[in-house]
Amino acid sequence: MTVTDIFDLQALARRRLASAVYCYIENGGYEEETLRRNRRDLGRLAFVPRVLNDVSSRNTETVIGADKLKMPVILAPVGACGLAYPNGEMEAAKAAKAFGVPFCLSTLSICTIEDVAEAVQAPFWFQLYMMNDKQVTDVLVRRAKEAGCSTLVLSMDLHVRSQRHSEEKHGLKAPPKIGLGTIWDGLTHPDWTFPMVFSRRRTFGNLIGLVPDAKNVFRITEWLERQFDATLSLEDVDWARSVWPGKLFVKGVIHPGEAKSCIEHGADGVIVSNHGGRQVDGAVSTIAALPRVVDAVNGKGIVLADSGIRSGMDVLKMIARGADGCLIGRAYMYGLAAMGGRGVYRALDIIYNELDQTMGLCGCVDIRDLPDDLLVDEETLVASARPRSRASLR
Ligand code: FNR
Repeated sequence: MTVTDIFDLQALARRRLASAVYCYIENGGYEEETLRRNRRDLGRLAFVPRVLNDVSSRNTETVIGADKLKMPVILAPVGACGLAYPNGEMEAAKAAKAFGVPFCLSTLSICTIEDVAEAVQAPFWFQLYMMNDKQVTDVLVRRAKEAGCSTLVLSMDLHVRSQRHSEEKHGLKAPPKIGLGTIWDGLTHPDWTFPMVFSRRRTFGNLIGLVPDAKNVFRITEWLERQFDATLSLEDVDWARSVWPGKLFVKGVIHPGEAKSCIEHGADGVIVSNHGGRQVDGAVSTIAALPRVVDAVNGKGIVLADSGIRSGMDVLKMIARGADGCLIGRAYMYGLAAMGGRGVYRALDIIYNELDQTMGLCGCVDIRDLPDDLLVDEETLVASARPRSRASLR
């Protein structure tokens, strides 16, 4: 297949992965209303291109926190990323470094913090879930510091677990249910199954040595199920600020007032995210929530956004709506699942070319200086559109 866009990588990922793993990456919370809404609302926004500008020289580079980026895109933290491809987090981190964008490692990664540090020999971002077992959280923060991570992403939106129907149906629960269907799924996807079976890394690497029986996937998932911390509050932002000397972003913020509070409590920025539609079903899309958050933060902190981004055009829309940068989750996971690190690089390259070309086509020369009237809400425009006057009738 000639790969021309992220959806081609998605098709390849779907073909290679066991369907349980594909469904884990793909599905959203409950009826998946928010999952669809993220895509629908991005699609509702339309560019109003300008053709009278000189666009022969264009800039997609930007600076976010401690990092210089080739384009305003960061690889989002994805738990169990390394189940999509052997050593997945190391592969993705290396591709991100080669391309010139940051990689954010999830607390619940398969490769460890130290594996990724050794693979890239450069700073990366670390995402932290506050666990009920605070000792585990403390150790993870210390290890991220020792590994030279530049940025801590504190995810606040997994304090209560949402249900994902499709995962339940595939037996992805705590503990996982393995039946004849699972075995058949594995046998019919040998390109995924055999490399994974022979891979050294197959469980939540960061927890090995910290949690008893972490190598036992049944026990560790049961332990994790007890770790969602429903007491999360601004005090945890204060705590993270007190222990983390580097850049600090709070992820999963949708409400403008909460975004402002996070900045007032010392966060360098917030990430407007609904976890890719995997948590609150019925929640507002992030592209719709973004402008109010940008207003509330009022230039006092960095605003990043994610959820639903599948192209450079989507990136441009997020930036035009006020984000300083955005994160991609599934878009790079499709590439990783399809062809490892090469696929992650390919996904980034696709998004970069789409972004650069669409900027040119729309008359934009600098990603950091987009015109205010680049986007319109197409549905509102169509409903209200009528000609004021026609020269031929005058
Ligand atoms: C996630 N996400 C996530 N976020 C986080 O803070 N820690 C995590 O461990 C995970 N794990 C995870 C697993 C999978 C399979 C997905 C798809 C997502 C959310 C992620 O960081 C990001 O917010 C979304 O992926 C963005 O939406 P898109 O780009 O996938 O539509």
